[in-house]
Amino acid sequence: MRRALDLSRKGRFSVSPNPRVGCVIVREPSASADGIFRVIGEGFHLRKGLPHAERVALDSCAEDPRGSTLFVTLEPCCHHGATPPCTEAILKAGIRRVVAATTDPFPQVAGQGIKWLRNHGVQVDVGLLEDEARFENRYFLHRHEIGLPWVILKAAVSLDGKLSTATGQSKWITGEEARTHVHSLRAEVDAILVGVGTVLTDDPLLTARPSVSEIHDWKPTIRVVLDPQGLISSSSRLLKTAKDSPVWIFLADSVSPSQKERIETAGARVDFVSCSDEKLDLIQILRRLAEANILSLLVEGGGNVHTSFLENQLVNEVAIYIAPVLVGGKPSPTFYMGQGVSTMKEAPRLERVNRRLLGPDTLIRGILKWKL
Ligand SMILES: NC(=O)c1ccc[n+]([C@@H]2O[C@H](COP(=O)([O-])OP(=O)(O)OC[C@H]3O[C@@H](n4cnc5c(N)ncnc54)[C@H](OP(=O)(O)O)[C@@H]3O)[C@@H](O)[C@H]2O)c1
Repeated sequence: MRRALDLSRKGRFSVSPNPRVGCVIVREPSASADGIFRVIGEGFHLRKGLPHAERVALDSCAEDPRGSTLFVTLEPCCHHGATPPCTEAILKAGIRRVVAATTDPFPQVAGQGIKWLRNHGVQVDVGLLEDEARFENRYFLHRHEIGLPWVILKAAVSLDGKLSTATGQSKWITGEEARTHVHSLRAEVDAILVGVGTVLTDDPLLTARPSVSEIHDWKPTIRVVLDPQGLISSSSRLLKTAKDSPVWIFLADSVSPSQKERIETAGARVDFVSCSDEKLDLIQILRRLAEANILSLLVEGGGNVHTSFLENQLVNEVAIYIAPVLVGGKPSPTFYMGQGVSTMKEAPRLERVNRRLLGPDTLIRGILKWKL
């Protein structure tokens, strides 16, 4: 199953909106002439419309898989989607036992794959390395279980936690290795979101430019902007590239239709959203993104947008790049302003914390656990 999980990760830049799935087919000792475990086939799912991991693994088998065990990181599908059901292929191949790490919440599967296999005489065991499998597929599972995209808050900060100087300068806090790393993080998610403040100050391109060596296949990331008053300039780098790489702008519903038209003419998708306290309704936005099959969203700032996501407890994971530099100054923003918590007991803590050195900088990444 660990090998199957490693394989599933190979689809991470291309597989969405489908889940990451890896599969390994093993001849068990009791069923093999030499009495040892032998991997006879393996595979992973690369992209929607291409064969699922189980079929890739079955097709790769070096010998007849009849009587062998199939390890898969997610319950096999039993419905006709973009490809035919994997359960039928498993049965036809004569697989004796299926070990699935976790069930699939997708409404057309949701336990039916396991039931169908059992009804047809295949032994099915569920739950091996389930935590790891759920972690690996957290974007997909969150979208289908909660109905919202998985939100990752990303920020580059100084050692004293500042996002920029008091005059708004933030280029560059971190070094080249950290900035290169951000591009693979961007390539892994479905969409990147910033506030219009960042667009006006930094004029970012927000495309993912990962190093070619680390990706198998890749699909462009959607660039999203919260722009309540329609302030984005038609000459911004985002709008100038909107016809080549998707841009989606959210405006307050009080903005004039002519502003909407100006932005749409540049090639961006534009949606109106309601406002409360002059802030766009984040839940409404997340629901629209989820409906558009966006499973994962990287929130890149600036401080006001970061703070809103945190205050509304809408952040699932953080990725903070910390640079060994001091900025100082009370007015210089951090990524968590607002009221904050009043006691340490209330402070949300990270779990599954991963620390990584990137040249002079450190990335701290982890899942955010909110106190209820
Ligand atoms: N170090 C880093 O990682 C990093 C990353 C990005 C940006 N930055 C820096 O951050 C600065 C820009 O940040 P900023 O805080 O001024 O602007 P921002 O957070 O990028 O954008 C704020 C804008 O978004 C609008 N908005 C709409 N809905 C919102 C909501 N629900 N919550 C919060 N804002 C919402 C705000 O509208 P209203 O005006 O109506 O409130 C405001 O106009 C720049 O200096 C940039 O260099 C640093």
